[in-house]
Amino acid sequence: MFISLEGIDGSGKSSISKMLEDYLKSKNLKVFLTEEPTKEIFDVKSLMEMNLDVYTRIFIFMADRVEHIKKIKRAIEEGYVVISDRYVDSTFAYQGAVLKSILKDMEKAYQYLDCIYNPFRYDPDIIFYLDVDPKTGISRIKRKREFFEDIEFLNDVRNFYLFLSVKRKYVKIDSNGSLEYSFKNILKYMEKI
Ligand code: TYD
Repeated sequence: MFISLEGIDGSGKSSISKMLEDYLKSKNLKVFLTEEPTKEIFDVKSLMEMNLDVYTRIFIFMADRVEHIKKIKRAIEEGYVVISDRYVDSTFAYQGAVLKSILKDMEKAYQYLDCIYNPFRYDPDIIFYLDVDPKTGISRIKRKREFFEDIEFLNDVRNFYLFLSVKRKYVKIDSNGSLEYSFKNILKYMEKI
């Protein structure tokens, strides 16, 4: 099984990913917790500090993903449950939010990104989308780091996630409350399946 966690910065994905890993391990499952961007072929995080064009960013994240998918597939074949803290829906939502302002159309932006993803497509079985108000998200990360995206941009990213929610069959989790509250709703879903 392949699970991805998505959401804007400060939605609690990383903490929830670890909580989910512990829960699945307690059920005696083998778990491979991974994240994007990876550090596999290049240092994506330091590249992101450069003032790069959106198209350059798209290809960097996609290239990183092509290599990541090989690792994910290997883990699945070896019987692991894979949890990825961010995956392709981050490119759809973050780069999609920027492309939308260029192409003036959300659907066109999504179609373009989906076309690039298509040849190596490997979709998660479950996409948990942790939905948080950007103001709340920012106030959470402000406590932890200096750099963060501005609220307007995060609003656009959130709108893109919401736009994809039905199309990409997200399991939407209200993440405005405590981590425990979000995780309880994730468990409710996991127990059902
Ligand atoms: P993030 O998971 O927020 O890292 P951390 O919390 O450890 O700093 O990811 C870093 C940033 O990269 C985040 O702002 C989202 C962005 N990103 C994209 O824009 N596109 C992508 O495809 C991915 C995977 C991440």
